[in-house]
Amino acid sequence: MPSHPAIRLHKGGQPLHLEHLETRPPGPGEAVVRLRYAALNHRDLWMRQGAYGGSGAAPCTLGSDGFGFVEAVGSKGDEAWVGRGVVLYPALAWGASDRAPDPGWRILGVPDEGTWAGAVTIPVSQLFDAPPGWKPEEAAALPLAGLTAHRALFRRGGLAAGQRLLITGIGGGVAQFALQFARAAGAEAWVTSGSEDKLREAKAAGARGGALYTAEGWGAALAREATGEKGGFDLCIDSAGGAGWKDICAALKPGGALVYLGATRGPGEIPMRDAFFKQIDIRGTAMGSRNDFADMLTFATEKNLRPVIDSTFDLADAEKALARMNEGSQTGKIVLRI
Ligand SMILES: NC(=O)c1ccc[n+]([C@@H]2O[C@H](COP(=O)([O-])OP(=O)(O)OC[C@H]3O[C@@H](n4cnc5c(N)ncnc54)[C@H](OP(=O)(O)O)[C@@H]3O)[C@@H](O)[C@H]2O)c1
Repeated sequence: MPSHPAIRLHKGGQPLHLEHLETRPPGPGEAVVRLRYAALNHRDLWMRQGAYGGSGAAPCTLGSDGFGFVEAVGSKGDEAWVGRGVVLYPALAWGASDRAPDPGWRILGVPDEGTWAGAVTIPVSQLFDAPPGWKPEEAAALPLAGLTAHRALFRRGGLAAGQRLLITGIGGGVAQFALQFARAAGAEAWVTSGSEDKLREAKAAGARGGALYTAEGWGAALAREATGEKGGFDLCIDSAGGAGWKDICAALKPGGALVYLGATRGPGEIPMRDAFFKQIDIRGTAMGSRNDFADMLTFATEKNLRPVIDSTFDLADAEKALARMNEGSQTGKIVLRI
């Protein structure tokens, strides 16, 4: 029986373990993918810290993103997949609707065996051809954050060419994709960060301007800079929540929308009067449907985009990779070489 290395979470809050596991043969409709690269998402850090539902589950392999080659398919699997370089659609059991997932849908990696491993056995329906011409590490960096950013901007945010977008926390993995995708779609993007250096980098990457989210009253000030005394942003994509929502609502134009996908800084503090007088739409989003994933891959390929990769670590150094994410010093995706 072939085996593979895997980074296992035994219990949230405790150190990770590098173990060798038997590779599970594919059942009906499943495939075995030999993984070459995986990537980090903030979810993995929450899991490691024990701050995410499910992180108390029995020993399980972390990781939602990966690139690899299909080694075998089980019965009812399409043999044509064997040998192909693939990325994995990271939402399991999402269901058929593009509007919202079925109850019981899951994100790949705890409680299902994830991608920080030499191999994963997974339904064939999760396989997509990797974008042609991309490096393996670029392909591995794309799925979860790319999917989340694409759905947040387009299906949930309705972003159109010429609109003015605000992206908070531009150093983050999802935020970096949002900036690239928005620019490629012809929108005007503005950003916030906790770091002047990251604001400079974002401007070099095409953002029109930005503000420190630590500055008092940054929301109204940035809206003034972007649009003059009247108006504001059409859309904001946020994953921080917390007190930042006061500034975001100040920055949005009347009728604008806040699409949020995380709560890094805790529950969003909604400025109720500002939000209802300005008729602001506040919409949650998470991951995306299979159609969203296919659309995102097509978009990234046709626009010839490439993920921003912050750094690469060996699989055995997964703890070091998580420590870098915990510091918040990254810009873009942190990748694991397997
Ligand atoms: N709903 C979903 O499907 C989904 C998918 C992916 C991620 N998420 C969630 O989204 C969040 C980001 O995930 P990620 O993987 O992109 O994380 P990440 O790469 O670790 O990025 C986190 C970023 O948060 C920013 N940040 C920290 N404090 C902030 C504040 N007060 N205001 C605004 N931004 C702040 C930082 O930006 P600077 O470095 O620029 O300061 C940091 O780079 C996490 O909460 C994650 O759980 C949700």
